[in-house]
Amino acid sequence: MEDMAADKASEAGQTATLDRDSREPRVCVIGAGSSGITACQKLLERRVDFDCYEMSTETGGIWRYQNDSGRSAAYRSLHINTSRQMMAYAAYPMPDDYPDYPDHFQIAAYFDDFVDHFGFRDRIQFATEVISVKPVSTGDSSTQWEVTVKPRDGEERTETYTDVIVANGHHWNPRWPEPAFPGSDTFTGEQIHAHYYREPSELAGKRVLVLGIGNSATDISVESSRVAEATFLAMRRGAWIVPKYIAGVPTDRVTAGPLTRAPLFIQSFVLWLTLRLTVGKLTDYGLPKPDHMPLHAHPTVSSDLITRLGHGDITVKPNIDHFDEDNVVFEDGSSEKIDIVVYCTGYQITFPFLDDEILRRFAEPRRQHRRAVSGGQCVRLNHEAQRPVGGPSSPTVLRCPLERA
Ligand SMILES: Cc1cc2nc3c(=O)[nH]c(=O)nc-3n(C[C@H](O)[C@H](O)[C@H](O)COP(=O)(O)OP(=O)(O)OC[C@H]3O[C@@H](n4cnc5c(N)ncnc54)[C@H](O)[C@@H]3O)c2cc1C
Ligand SMILES: NC(=O)c1ccc[n+]([C@@H]2O[C@H](COP(=O)([O-])OP(=O)(O)OC[C@H]3O[C@@H](n4cnc5c(N)ncnc54)[C@H](OP(=O)(O)O)[C@@H]3O)[C@@H](O)[C@H]2O)c1
Repeated sequence: MEDMAADKASEAGQTATLDRDSREPRVCVIGAGSSGITACQKLLERRVDFDCYEMSTETGGIWRYQNDSGRSAAYRSLHINTSRQMMAYAAYPMPDDYPDYPDHFQIAAYFDDFVDHFGFRDRIQFATEVISVKPVSTGDSSTQWEVTVKPRDGEERTETYTDVIVANGHHWNPRWPEPAFPGSDTFTGEQIHAHYYREPSELAGKRVLVLGIGNSATDISVESSRVAEATFLAMRRGAWIVPKYIAGVPTDRVTAGPLTRAPLFIQSFVLWLTLRLTVGKLTDYGLPKPDHMPLHAHPTVSSDLITRLGHGDITVKPNIDHFDEDNVVFEDGSSEKIDIVVYCTGYQITFPFLDDEILRRFAEPRRQHRRAVSGGQCVRLNHEAQRPVGGPSSPTVLRCPLERA
């Protein structure tokens, strides 16, 4: 395995050579969001030497409202849409007095408590950004990593690690429509991405168009519908709208358990039937019929959207066709005067500190979203103890030689 890693490193164009004992793991963790801190806790438990670098001054990642990294998409009213039981670390449950769906302040506080409970805050170097990760050869032909960091108020420096755990998040780099819609450059209204949305006051009294039908789009359109002059929700295809509760129980607790061991088509059918009996036909609310079965795409969780549609406070539209000065023309030929467009069009997964070539060669081929970079064996951290965030988000699953420790 190490020879293979060395070959990969060589192919990736590395030039430097190190002379150190690669059998002593020394791990770099990039990021102290929910994925990074759970990796740190596991490394600590296994007595593996590690450093964690966090560009912000606090833990929590996207759950830290107004994070000084500028990377949090949390808006003022954000609550989790996976239940607290699903989202909690198995090794450290959320407090019993938390509600089923806590807000971002509670989630950030929980992550802080996690770090302090396991006692590794001093192992996190805050306000320190990782700016480059490069493979280097070692004397015994395995691969190690040169990690260059830049403290906010200090000089760049480079450290060497046997393994790098990349937990830099995947919801911080806004994905704008590409190519942009015709006429968007001369549109007289405002255009923002959901990443920058914070409070409903930004939409009050305006004619608002929200694009997308993911969780950002439903939350923001619902919020807009309470304060805006008019709210339009445009989408290029339908999505299943999953309520937060079924029969008084958080939905992901209903769908967890024995059902998750059934084949996907059975899980999908059970959820389809449940939604049919509880929510009904989406087309009755003016939403397009999804082109896929439930669980075949990321679920959109909202108990409020259906009601706001039923109240007539949100109008559904097909995708944008083009802009015409202060108007938006939709694909069905209808048009509306719009003051602000909120693009809820998702995020790009990017790793600014890694060359694409390195990512291609070292990350697991079909699982690049899991952000695995390592020169060693392919193992998973103990998943049971680690489950960083349940539900729809992908935990940072790692390839690294921790089994050696
Ligand atoms: C609005 C919104 C709501 C969501 N709600 C849910 C939900 O209800 N349930 C759910 O399961 N998932 C949800 N998600 C998915 C979310 O991504 C996860 O909940 C979780 O926050 C991911 O954690 P992370 O540690 O991987 O990433 P992040 O929380 O983004 O943390 C990454 C950390 O890495 C740091 N970092 C990045 N680059 C560097 C660098 N170069 N050097 C040093 N530090 C760096 C960042 O500052 C940050 O602290 C939501 C996402 C969004 C955008
Ligand atoms: N806790 C919460 O309540 C909460 C709130 C917000 C976000 N989140 C999480 O944050 C993550 C990101 O969610 P998100 O809603 O921001 O993004 P998302 O899930 O990626 O959804 C993006 C939406 O935009 C559409 N879209 C993308 N490009 C488009 C284009 N060029 N033209 C028209 N439509 C386009 C997509 O359509 P297609 O499906 O056709 O691609 C999809 O409907 C998810 O994990 C989500 O669960 C959670």
